[in-house]
Amino acid sequence: MSTEPKNEYCRVPIKLILEHGDDFPFDIYLKLGPAKIIKLSHRNEDIKETFLRYKEKGVEDVFVLQREMSAFIKQLRKNMANRFFDSGTLPTREAVSILDSGYMVTKEAFMKLGVNETTLAVAKEVNEFSVKMLKKVPNIFEFFKQFREDCEKSFMKQLMVAYSTSCMIDTFDWKSQQIKEKTAMAAMLCDVLLTESQIELVNQAEKVADGDWDAHLPREILEHPTKLSSMLMPQRHTISTETIGIIEVHHELPNGDGFPRGITADRLTLLPCIYIVANKFITLMIDSGFDYRQRDSMLQTLEDNYSRGNFKKAVRSLYKMLGMVV
Ligand SMILES: [Fe+2]
Repeated sequence: MSTEPKNEYCRVPIKLILEHGDDFPFDIYLKLGPAKIIKLSHRNEDIKETFLRYKEKGVEDVFVLQREMSAFIKQLRKNMANRFFDSGTLPTREAVSILDSGYMVTKEAFMKLGVNETTLAVAKEVNEFSVKMLKKVPNIFEFFKQFREDCEKSFMKQLMVAYSTSCMIDTFDWKSQQIKEKTAMAAMLCDVLLTESQIELVNQAEKVADGDWDAHLPREILEHPTKLSSMLMPQRHTISTETIGIIEVHHELPNGDGFPRGITADRLTLLPCIYIVANKFITLMIDSGFDYRQRDSMLQTLEDNYSRGNFKKAVRSLYKMLGMVV
């Protein structure tokens, strides 16, 4: 047993260990307290039985050493590619679960290892497989109801936003698969530096802040859009400027009441406006428990608040996506 500090470890979902093969070439640890961690398995040991027992006891996360996280991700990517090779026959529940785990590992990697070749590669792959899977989903609302219990809230929400932006982009002449993937990538990365509880704080603040963000959110959270975009800028050869552009402004609002910069609608191009409107629409849908009967009042809220500059076009594309005449 060791008592090494917790920041030397990276969190991974235990279901991921169970999904990916019988052994991992790493030591895997279990956290018993804030500073108490035990080694649960040794490298190349058959671990499935042991981990199954812990999962049944309610353990959700295990840990790998931070210095082994890159190698762990490499292994995860290999397994994920094998699983999705024949995705036509993959049961949807399994696909959603694999991607949910992949998303959580991507988040942990961004937070602990920062932006590098490994973290960007896993992010791109999880996004690619997500876009592929979403293409097969006939009804996103049914999809949400069916799988929300199996997934992290933030993963499910970003899938819904990616799906909506893709359908909204389809209503324009300039639509392309490439631009849909770039927007989906923004949906996946936007909050990758925030923990689940920080994301929840943002959700709550958005309901009450009325532009006074400093009174409701700490600086660290308020700066996550600019912090991530400046981390990504040196990687422009790997990640598109459109994706980075959306990330940078994803909490801005038409009247300048957003954060962190408070820029107004006249300075926002169409793609970020599509993202912001889709994100708001999905937030409203989630808050309503996906009660489709509330659709008209949600659309009215969007029309009232997103009527300036490119936001107007974005709201129109949402109407078209829902099959409504505008
Ligand atoms: Fe955010």
